[in-house]
Amino acid sequence: MSFWARKSNIVITCAKGAPPFLKEEILSLGFPILSVGMAEVGTEGSLEDAMRLNLSIRTGQRILFLLESFNAKTPDELYKRISRISWEDYIPEDSYFSVTSSVYNPTIKDSRFANVKCKDAVVDRIKEKRGRRPDTGPERDKVVIHLYWRSNLCQVFFDTSGEPLSRRGYRMIPLKAPVQETLGATVVLATGWMGNENFINPMCGSGTLAIEAVLIGLDRAPGLLRSNYGFMHLKDFDESSWKTLRRKTRAAAKDRLDGRIIATDISQQAVEAAKKNAMTAGVERLIEFGVCDFSETPVPTNGGLIILNPEYGERLGEIEKLKETYRKIGDFFKKKCQGYKGYIFTGNLDLAKKIGLRTKRRIPFYNGPIECRLLEYDLYEGSRKEASTKLQ
Ligand SMILES: C[S@@+](CC[C@H](N)C(=O)[O-])C[C@H]1O[C@@H](n2cnc3c(N)ncnc32)[C@H](O)[C@@H]1O
Repeated sequence: MSFWARKSNIVITCAKGAPPFLKEEILSLGFPILSVGMAEVGTEGSLEDAMRLNLSIRTGQRILFLLESFNAKTPDELYKRISRISWEDYIPEDSYFSVTSSVYNPTIKDSRFANVKCKDAVVDRIKEKRGRRPDTGPERDKVVIHLYWRSNLCQVFFDTSGEPLSRRGYRMIPLKAPVQETLGATVVLATGWMGNENFINPMCGSGTLAIEAVLIGLDRAPGLLRSNYGFMHLKDFDESSWKTLRRKTRAAAKDRLDGRIIATDISQQAVEAAKKNAMTAGVERLIEFGVCDFSETPVPTNGGLIILNPEYGERLGEIEKLKETYRKIGDFFKKKCQGYKGYIFTGNLDLAKKIGLRTKRRIPFYNGPIECRLLEYDLYEGSRKEASTKLQ
């Protein structure tokens, strides 16, 4: 049996807070759940399955395919065990590989040391078998080996994603404080958005939330936007089956949405960037962009969801100014967004209190090291005038 068809454990890493959403995605793709951690979910499948996961998963960062699992106490034991793996069967001639690691072992002070031990073991093995050293380095655009070492347990994976999946390939122009694409998708999925109602995103910045919402609404796999993955650089990668998978996945997507997607920002530069990013993602025709204060964003009367990711400020002066912004968001929700589900994604809960509305749900997330919340508000129906502003 080709090693591409052999089943093994697959670990999908994600941001803290994201596992419940990642788990749902994995199940909906027909894979079992073997474990759920703080920042990862375990499943199983073959390398061929890993291709499908890379193409379709929205909330995960890296699809790690388990190659070997063993016990090692010291770096020398690690070296010995890793050099027993038949790397020449997996890594093609003239290839390049890099090693990443997560090391929690008391004998290792600096995880770079474990990386070097692992890399040396692979290089020495291949040199012995082929008489030539393979190229190595820090780039993650070819074969990526991931080492997980906790206490004595050592697991060696292929990182089949290569570059993390958050690099979808559409965000050429990130601006100040953007959310990562994978976090953006997680936040949108947490709202329960299905693509059949209006999605209003004032303060859109570089457009990540609106773009991810469109991709979700269309059922368009986020991985279609990217042309390079780690798995493509392994031996016997079958390009034709990858192309077939992409073609079928693309064909399964919708090409229109029922609701309106409106994205605005006060900064002309942000809106220009968001438009370009949406264009790269192939969804710009589905998003109505506008430059305006958030409170001037047109909100159609037939309901849907409205989501804002305001700045949360680092310096005291900024935070004072932002208190007023958050208070005004509360007013805007009350006056202009009745009949909507309102959401604020923020890393500052004190500022969020200035919204002055009762939260219905508070979902914890991490934006890198920053603890954030997605706050949900029910904005009850009342009388108000139809939004008439025409967008660009
Ligand atoms: C944290 S960023 C949003 C980042 C966005 N989620 C992304 O992924 O790029 C906040 C955005 O709010 C915008 N903003 C600040 N004050 C605003 C206001 N009063 N009205 C509209 N937009 C505003 C800023 O220009 C900035 O783009």
